[in-house]
Amino acid sequence: MTKFPERVFSGVQPTGNLHLGNYLGAITKFVDLQKNYECLYCVVDLHAITVAQDPAKLTSNIREVTAAFIAAGIDPETNIIFNQSQVAEHTELAWVFNCVARMGWLNRMTQFKEKAGKDRENASVGLYAYPALMAADILVYRATHVPVGEDQKQHLELARDIAQKFNNDFSKSIQDHGFGDVFFPLPEPLIQGPATRVMSLRDGAKKMSKSDVSDNSRLNLSDDADVIAQKVRKAKTDSEALPSEIEGLGSRPEADNLVGIFAALNEQSKAEVLRDFGGANFSTFKSALVDLAVAKLGPIGTKMRELQTDQAYIDDILRRGADRARVHAQATMSSVKDILGFVR
Ligand code: TRP
Repeated sequence: MTKFPERVFSGVQPTGNLHLGNYLGAITKFVDLQKNYECLYCVVDLHAITVAQDPAKLTSNIREVTAAFIAAGIDPETNIIFNQSQVAEHTELAWVFNCVARMGWLNRMTQFKEKAGKDRENASVGLYAYPALMAADILVYRATHVPVGEDQKQHLELARDIAQKFNNDFSKSIQDHGFGDVFFPLPEPLIQGPATRVMSLRDGAKKMSKSDVSDNSRLNLSDDADVIAQKVRKAKTDSEALPSEIEGLGSRPEADNLVGIFAALNEQSKAEVLRDFGGANFSTFKSALVDLAVAKLGPIGTKMRELQTDQAYIDDILRRGADRARVHAQATMSSVKDILGFVR
């Protein structure tokens, strides 16, 4: 069996309002992984345009995600940070994968059904084919590990199916060209646990979301200390003191969420947080949470704002990242063309 070098790939869409959920659910994970893996982190602008985008906002959102990666501690020198549209091989391989993936597979994608809603006839073809592009993002680097949220698990399974079908359909050609017995690895998801599911500060039953009309529902990574403090103080709670045991959070979604946020930011378990705060009222707990959130997120926001004033610096990181990524991507595409029988 072919052994592939371990490599991490993940993508974040530049669609605005990066918030605590993105940070705890994805970006902190990216930061940790750089210790042990060679990592590529991609701002997936081609995915963003599967639904309508305002071009000027898209530009600033691409720079914002890049700034967030760096501000959170991803080193752009040891890893590769880049934006998808600068490496044309993503779309080139995506076309090949459109021809490998089956209609039946894509028809099962729940995210498409949710996003397209009732007006499916009017959804873009890109929104439908989106998972094939995602598979290409990963496999154009022959990445082996992909940190994603629970919501992307199905897309990752599709990427594995595509890799496997390609390996099977072209097994003879793969061998004839000396690539071993399989060409693509089957990428493995690194799924974050439910502990990092961050809910709205206004409604503990709803996920924290970039598209919630209430800005008070989320802590944006770009919020400054005053805004963070204000939002935490305004966060919805109930009237009881905090329980000492985790079971006591069961029917209290807002309390559960704030305890979960505290735990994640402080790298503790919820049980540990309750050991310290069981019996405390919310004003005490919120004061502690304000201090913690400001200490952890404040510097990221400050650094992001600082980076965003230096567009040339950000754009240079993206350009150099793309140049490095392209080297890998071109090598894969040349091999894929040989395997398919194209003349080059
Ligand atoms: N679809 C992912 C999301 O919406 C973003 C994404 C695009 C991605 N390409 C990827 C994630 C490749 C992991 C690997 O969150």
